[in-house]
Amino acid sequence: MTGTALLTGGAGYIGSHTAVVLLQAGWSVVVVDNMANSSPVAVERVRELVGGDLAFHRADIRDERALDAVFAAHDVDAVVHFAGLKAVGESVAKPLDYYETNVGGSVNLLKVMRNAGVRNLVFSSSATVYGDPEVVPVTERSPVGETTNPYGRTKLIIEDLLRDVAVAEDGWHIAILRYFNPIGAHPSGHIGEDPYGIPNNLVPNLMQVAAGRLPKVRVFGTDYPTADGTGVRDYIHVVDLAEGHLAALERLDAIDGAEAINLGTGKGYSVLEVITAASKAVGHDVPYEIEGRRSGDIATVYTDPTHAREMLGWEAKRGIDEMVADHWRWQSTNPRGYEGEADG
Ligand code: NAD
Ligand code: UFG
Repeated sequence: MTGTALLTGGAGYIGSHTAVVLLQAGWSVVVVDNMANSSPVAVERVRELVGGDLAFHRADIRDERALDAVFAAHDVDAVVHFAGLKAVGESVAKPLDYYETNVGGSVNLLKVMRNAGVRNLVFSSSATVYGDPEVVPVTERSPVGETTNPYGRTKLIIEDLLRDVAVAEDGWHIAILRYFNPIGAHPSGHIGEDPYGIPNNLVPNLMQVAAGRLPKVRVFGTDYPTADGTGVRDYIHVVDLAEGHLAALERLDAIDGAEAINLGTGKGYSVLEVITAASKAVGHDVPYEIEGRRSGDIATVYTDPTHAREMLGWEAKRGIDEMVADHWRWQSTNPRGYEGEADG
């Protein structure tokens, strides 16, 4: 199946990689993004990489009239809803912004979709809905709800909202994709994650250390109940994740109502294992120092990938070495992200 997919937040990290994969598979793509955390250069790079039928509208998902106009201008078959705010720490400081953009923006989008008669939706949720799981790997039947921050709570609320909408009206096909830890970049090095300021997440931070822009990786805790004492996560290559969205769009008809699907590799890596893999990719040791635990962190989370394989016919193919090598190619050829002149 192909058609026209509208990507809210399609200029962002995961959205831009998904745009590439969809265009390559023959989909037409309409990106809607207000550029709150992205650059128009990302959309240009996607065009340069793959060509294809790509439209871009600078618009805010909270703006009903603007969204109406986008749906009137395109014959949209399905929406992939990436747009939102995602910084955990910021969400604690600015909860109203998070509820307004993530929850309010989703309500608005659903109203506009319903008016336009579009009921196919793929939503970006997060493994954060599982909180600190008692049992790993987590499956879609693992308990949700013990999130520790407003960002995570917005994801839970939106998941409930989607289920309620699907119960109230027939005809909705909604895939709720719960991502684990996306890292890496397109192998061309032309698109990647471009975080503002000092990155909070391990791999973007580590890459800036490797590039000499930050002095040392701070390892947050070596006293977790894991093999080497550092936190374990299910890192997934962003291109694998993008391919998961293509698979979800292709199988949406099989979902009656709303259904959650975990997207991860099923393998966990510790902070020290990631640093070792990254050191190999960059060709020198990435310096680090041990610090105390970061508040709100959990020891271990990784998925059981069975449901994704069965529902979507999809599984992640790329390993940790490829993830960090591709991330490094993007970082080293675009040291200032989309702002700077790319050397490569
Ligand atoms: P991102 O910040 O790169 O992309 C989000 C995009 O949404 C940005 O381009 C931003 O400009 C846009 N946006 C924000 N507010 C908007 C608004 N009001 N109107 C229109 N556009 C708006 O983040 P990402 O890493 O690509 O994440 C995409 C989605 O996946 C988010 O919903 C995020 O919560 C979710 N997610 C991300 C991760 C991760 O680790 N990256 C993990 C789990 C879930
Ligand atoms: N870590 C460090 N040093 C750093 C950054 C992180 O040691 O500078 C460690 C963390 O303690 C953790 C691991 O590296 O053990 C991964 O941390 P990240 O910040 O990269 O990712 P998280 O798993 O903490 O967070 C991610 C998403 C959140 C989401 C959360 C739960 O970024 O949006 O998963 O699913 F809420």
